[in-house]
Amino acid sequence: EARQALDRFDRAVAAETRIEPRDWMPDAYRATLVRQIAQHAHSEIIGMQPEANWITRAPSLRRKAILIAKVQDEAGHGLYLYSAAETLGVSREELLDRLHSGRQKYSSIFNYPTLTWADVGAIGWLVDGAAITNQVPLCRCSYGPYARAMVRICKEESFHQRQGYELLLALSRGTPAQHAMAQDAVNRWWWPSLMMFGPPDAESEHSARSMAWNIKRHSNDELRQRFVDICVPQAETLGLTLPDPELRWNEERGHWDHGPIDWEEFRAVLRGQGPCNAQRLEQRRRAHREGAWVREAAAAYAARHGAGGGT
Ligand code: 3HC
Repeated sequence: EARQALDRFDRAVAAETRIEPRDWMPDAYRATLVRQIAQHAHSEIIGMQPEANWITRAPSLRRKAILIAKVQDEAGHGLYLYSAAETLGVSREELLDRLHSGRQKYSSIFNYPTLTWADVGAIGWLVDGAAITNQVPLCRCSYGPYARAMVRICKEESFHQRQGYELLLALSRGTPAQHAMAQDAVNRWWWPSLMMFGPPDAESEHSARSMAWNIKRHSNDELRQRFVDICVPQAETLGLTLPDPELRWNEERGHWDHGPIDWEEFRAVLRGQGPCNAQRLEQRRRAHREGAWVREAAAAYAARHGAGGGT
C-alpha cells in the first residue's frame, strides 16, 4: 500500500499535478516544506524590523506612506506563509516557538543594519529584487498552498522593488551628498543580497531533493546569476556602481562574471554572529510577549461569539 502511495505521489509530481494538503505525501516532503515555508514566513516577519526603523524618519509624507504600506505587506506575507505551513499539520505557536528559540532560521539578509534612509531604497531594489527572482519560480512549486501564496506575494514584491529603485534613482540624481548616501547603501547591501540565494550549489544540503520534488525549480547559483544579470544594467541606469571590481560580461557564458562571495561571512551570520542577529530576535520575542493580550482577547471573543465572530 505504501509503495503504491509513493508511486502515485511521484507520478503526480512528475506530471506537474499540484500536491494538496489532503493528498498523501512522503514525510520528508512534508518536513522540507514546513522547514522552507516556515523560514520564509519568519523572514517576512523579521524583515519588517530593518525597514520599520525608518518609518518615523522618512523624508516626506509620500515616502512614509509607501514605507508603511510595504512593511504592512511584509506582515501579510508572513501570515500568508504561516497559513500555508499550517496546512502541513504544524501550529502557528509551534512555528513561532521554533523561531524564538533559534531552532528555525530566517533570511540572513535581515541581520544587517539600516544605517541611512538610502538603505530603504537599497533593500527595495536589491533585497526585494532578489526575493522576486527567488519567488517567481516558487509560483510553480508542486505544493499547492505554497505556490498559490507566492502568486499574490510576487505581485506585491514587484511594487516593493519598484519603489526602492525609484527612491535610489531620486537620491542618485540628487545632491552629491544624496548620491554618496545611495552609493554607500548599495556598497553595503550588494554582497549580502547575493547570499540570500543560499550557499553554492556544491554545498546546498536540500537542493537535489527539493528540485526532484519540483519545490525548487532552479539551483541557488542559477538564480543568483540571474539576479546579477538583472542588476548590472539597472545599476548603470541608476548611475551607481556595484562594489565588485571583478564584474565583467562573459560573452561565451552570456552572463556577468562576478567576484568571490565571502561564504565565511554567510556562515557567521547563520551561526548568529551577524551585526543584528541578537537585536532582531530580542525585538521579535518582545513583540510576541507584548502582543499576548491581543491573542488572549481574540481567543476569548472567538470562544464567546464562535470562531466566525458572528454578531
Ligand atoms: N539565510 C538563512 N538561511 C539560509 C540562507 C539564507 N540566505 N540560505 C540558505 N539557508 C539555509 C537553509 O535554510 C538550510 O538550512 P536549514 O536546513 O536549517 O533550513 C541551509 O542554509 C542549506 O541551504 P540549502 O540551499 O540546502 O537550503 P534550501 O534548499 O532551503 O535553499 C533558499 C535556501 C533558497 C533560501 C530556499 O529555502 C528558498 O527558496 N526559500 C524560500 C524563499 C525565502 O525564504 N526567501 C527569504 C528571503 S527574504 C523575503 O522573502 C522577504 C522579502 O519581502 C524581502
